[in-house]
Amino acid sequence: MIILKTERDLEAMRPACQLAGTVLDEVAAWIQPGVSTREIDDYAAGRIKHYGAKSAFLGYRKYPCHICISVNEQVVHGLASDRRVQFGDIVSLDVGVVHLGFIGDTARTVAVGGCDAAAQRLMDVTEQALLEGMARAVAGNRVADISEAIQRHVESNGLTVVREFVGHGVGRSMHEEPQVPNFTDRKPSPKLRAGMTLAIEPMVNEGGAAVRLLKDGWTVVTQDGKRSAHFEHTVLVTESEPEILTCLEKAPLRLRVGS
Ligand code: MF3
Ligand code: CO
Ligand code: CO
Repeated sequence: MIILKTERDLEAMRPACQLAGTVLDEVAAWIQPGVSTREIDDYAAGRIKHYGAKSAFLGYRKYPCHICISVNEQVVHGLASDRRVQFGDIVSLDVGVVHLGFIGDTARTVAVGGCDAAAQRLMDVTEQALLEGMARAVAGNRVADISEAIQRHVESNGLTVVREFVGHGVGRSMHEEPQVPNFTDRKPSPKLRAGMTLAIEPMVNEGGAAVRLLKDGWTVVTQDGKRSAHFEHTVLVTESEPEILTCLEKAPLRLRVGS
């Protein structure tokens, strides 16, 4: 069952999503060469608390950290540790907060100080794939239209999409129906309706699409050890332009597509 949000739900969900976006921005700006991922998680925890919110991840299926921090070949769900990020690393930050009973879920990959051209391109293609997908999140389309746009953008740029993890509905729970894959399959896909709130989140690899799980039970890494990027926004489907709930820009983000 896909839960449609009412205007009243959205009065709570909008601030929750803005808060997630704010914390993500703050963490991204705070990262410097030499900080450990534990310090990054502690900083995020402090910011979430400062706003009177809670991490949506801590304790979710016993997840032990406040945000997900995935470095280089780590795809998603990286755990905080003593590892220190270095100049040239790329770090995927995924922030989920609960506020006023609703969840905002948003992610971004950032370079630590700077990075090589291939990593920059990986991040740019992944972010643009998210924009391409979001632009299709309009009532009357299907979920598969989002998936198809993401996959096409990624693969036409010679990169690969991860299959094992997908976007999702989000609201009072972090993972609601429908699933929003970053690739198309032959399964019938639901029609989009105004009031659906979706976390759209391409995970894109430099090398092969295959991933594996580390022994810690959480960290997902690429099988070939090449790098991965992840961008995510929570969006509200409407009859016209989608509302990007976790976007902080005052003017609505222009969805320039088809590049
Ligand atoms: N934020 C992730 C997502 O985008 C889910 C993280 S679950 C956790 O769906 F347990 F790892 F936190
Ligand atoms: Co997320
Ligand atoms: Co998500």
